[in-house]
Amino acid sequence: MKTDRRMEKQVDWLKILIKCRSNLQKYIAPLLKTVNQPQPSLGIGAGGDTMKHIDLAAEKAITETLLDDYGLSFTLISEESGVKAYGSNPKETYVTADPIDGTTNLTRGIPFYATSIAVSTKPELHAVHTALVADLFHDVTYTAKKGEGAQRNGQKIAPSKETSLEEAVIGIDLNTYKVHEIAPRLTSLIEKTKHIRHLGANALELCYVADGTIDAFIDIRGKLRTTDTAAAWLIIREAGAKITTPYGKPLNAKLDPKEKVSFIAAANQTIQKKILALLKN
Ligand code: IPD
Ligand code: CA
Repeated sequence: MKTDRRMEKQVDWLKILIKCRSNLQKYIAPLLKTVNQPQPSLGIGAGGDTMKHIDLAAEKAITETLLDDYGLSFTLISEESGVKAYGSNPKETYVTADPIDGTTNLTRGIPFYATSIAVSTKPELHAVHTALVADLFHDVTYTAKKGEGAQRNGQKIAPSKETSLEEAVIGIDLNTYKVHEIAPRLTSLIEKTKHIRHLGANALELCYVADGTIDAFIDIRGKLRTTDTAAAWLIIREAGAKITTPYGKPLNAKLDPKEKVSFIAAANQTIQKKILALLKN
């Protein structure tokens, strides 16, 4: 425990994550010109999806920043390469990354994709202490440090105060072959809501709950990786919004590219309770 606290204090993780983001933007910039053209197959990443050049370049930018710019030792938990230890003390720091969240948006020219990086003292969601999710198209960066609130481009953020389901903007990810099992659980909620959305980069959509852009985001597919969720989990909580399991319990999970989560994220307790009451289990 003492070691964990020392690690958190000695290293300015927020500064390092911001450096990772700017290096990542430099690494992927030359690839953006051709990203919508057919890409060679690079195999399946640790998270189970086909890897693209741009995903690997983004991951390389993160790893090289941590190693070459800061000489750090850490365990990388990434959607692309899986779990890899670097340096002499890899068990003191875990860096969980989805180098590009929303790769399909990026390759199709939909301007909504992000990078997501979380730092923790254990490979566990609850141990995340520093987080960054950066919207790479709009140059908007969300950050959070445990106990110190959440920011959007350095300005403190707070979730919305909306309590009416009818007026609320609610994101729902129904992107699954199991839609016939998932959709019926959500019908009563959808019936009461005028504004349903899904934008295609879940880490960023969670940050939209954190800063009040939308009022809730729901992913109960059991399909979203913890690599996509780790950073936004802290940003949501530090902003003062809620994130629980679909049963209203605290959300925790092992940080691993193969580990999946389901959750309800909501701007405030009133709207969260209304959503939970309408979800069919
Ligand atoms: C994807 C996005 C998408 C969600 C998928 C994720 P990726 O992340 O977050 O919105 O529907 O389940 O895999 O694969 O682009 O990192
Ligand atoms: Ca990804």
